[in-house]
Amino acid sequence: MKYIQSAIVLLFLVINHYSYAQKTPEEIHRPQVHFTPEKNWMNDPNGMVYYKGVYHLFYQYHPFSSVWGPMHWGHATSTDLLHWKHEPVALYPDTLGMIFSGSAVVDLNNTSGFGKNGEPPLVAIYTSHNAVAEKAGRNDFETQSVAYSNDNGKTWIKFPGNPVVKNPGIRDFRDPKVMWHGETKRWVMTLAAMDRIVFYSSPDLKNWSRESEFGAAVGAHGGVWECPDLFAMDHEGKKVWILIVNLNPGGPNKGSATQYFVGDFDGNSFKPFNTEIKWIDYDPDEYAGITWSGTGDRKIFMGWMSNWMYADLVPTTKWRSATTIARDLKLYKIGAEYLVGSLPVKNINTLLENAKIRRNVEVEKSLILEDKKKGNLFPGIIELNTAASKSFSIVMSNTNNEKLIVGFDAENNQYYIDRKSAGISDFHKEFADRHIAPRFVDDKAVKLLLLIDVASVELFGDNGVTVMTSIFFPKFPYTKVEVVVNDKMIFENISSTPLNGIWKN
Ligand code: FRU
Repeated sequence: MKYIQSAIVLLFLVINHYSYAQKTPEEIHRPQVHFTPEKNWMNDPNGMVYYKGVYHLFYQYHPFSSVWGPMHWGHATSTDLLHWKHEPVALYPDTLGMIFSGSAVVDLNNTSGFGKNGEPPLVAIYTSHNAVAEKAGRNDFETQSVAYSNDNGKTWIKFPGNPVVKNPGIRDFRDPKVMWHGETKRWVMTLAAMDRIVFYSSPDLKNWSRESEFGAAVGAHGGVWECPDLFAMDHEGKKVWILIVNLNPGGPNKGSATQYFVGDFDGNSFKPFNTEIKWIDYDPDEYAGITWSGTGDRKIFMGWMSNWMYADLVPTTKWRSATTIARDLKLYKIGAEYLVGSLPVKNINTLLENAKIRRNVEVEKSLILEDKKKGNLFPGIIELNTAASKSFSIVMSNTNNEKLIVGFDAENNQYYIDRKSAGISDFHKEFADRHIAPRFVDDKAVKLLLLIDVASVELFGDNGVTVMTSIFFPKFPYTKVEVVVNDKMIFENISSTPLNGIWKN
């Protein structure tokens, strides 16, 4: 039986490898500057770890279907967070269950003893989800397991002592994110349990003790808490702890979303500075976002660019879902509040083709930035600074009367993305909608950066203090971009710059 199973897996790998080599990522909605699996279903990014110059991206993957199913960890690697190389599937389901979300660390001091030949191991910590036990009506079907790699993430060996954290009888008990806590010299696991966070600690990644629970009285609780992350950031010499908690549903623009808390963490418990609800991204299409480990003080964030409301219905057939662009997190202090902002990783600039920057332009009613008539305008970046905080919109359209409108509404002090007429939307009743996000800064000039791919827009307002992500599915590529204002308005600069696709280079 085992032999037959291995033969099937091998056959699958060969077929897969062959079709990968035949890759033609020309499908109309295939993102050109975002990671997508070659084919089939993907959800959360997992186990993101940087080691020896390579960024590893693992992800929730169903290798046999374009809808969610038995979860594996797919794998891709990159040296610049932009160009990705597909790697063989890293983790397969086993007798403990499917391989749900989790994290990976470099065990520099070989605390786990998994290292070999003096080289530190990479250790993945993930949830084993036992669907059989779930079906049987048990509550303890999610446990935490570890696997290690002695060849820089290429192949993984599951720890025979799994699971390393047993389930105390909580149905939703998953998505371990592990970090080294320098002050107490031990590992800390941040785990989602129903709509709470539970912290565990360990000297060796194998033996874990429960430390504390967080979340009863704070945060958004419209759904189950998933995929947490905990790390420190510096703000002018003050160390501040950020606790990311993904939530589904209950996001600010419906469905799944990423909230965060700012506070202190002492190795045992997390104390938020206040009870404000904060969102890393106002969505609707960033979810399960967490950060890379192994990157020191630099915190690089990436999410899944979809929403559980309609992820398995979106009109892409060969594959489903992309990741967001990798983003550098920034810690801002606005008034008395710490806010976590984000911007696309700087080296996105290496993908820029010739920038066309217009300076000090007065727009009367409308200004056409691009009108190609034919071909695809995107991927591209639109950047602008206004002279005053007045309303404006940027309209992307095609000759099929489909249009995506992104803008700033001065009256309500909000950014918005309106995809009501952006393209195909009949696959889910909530899809065609207008989404909003607050503006937090009161600078006179509105500063906007839009990263637009063929089927997504990521909005970064005011240096990334407000972030929104939205996917859309035009029947034909957008060919025109226009800035629209009420009457007259001065822009200090506006640029629209094409980006080179990552799969072509
Ligand atoms: C979040 C999530 C995780 C879980 C995984 C299963 O999107 O539901 O909580 O581990 O997806 O694929």
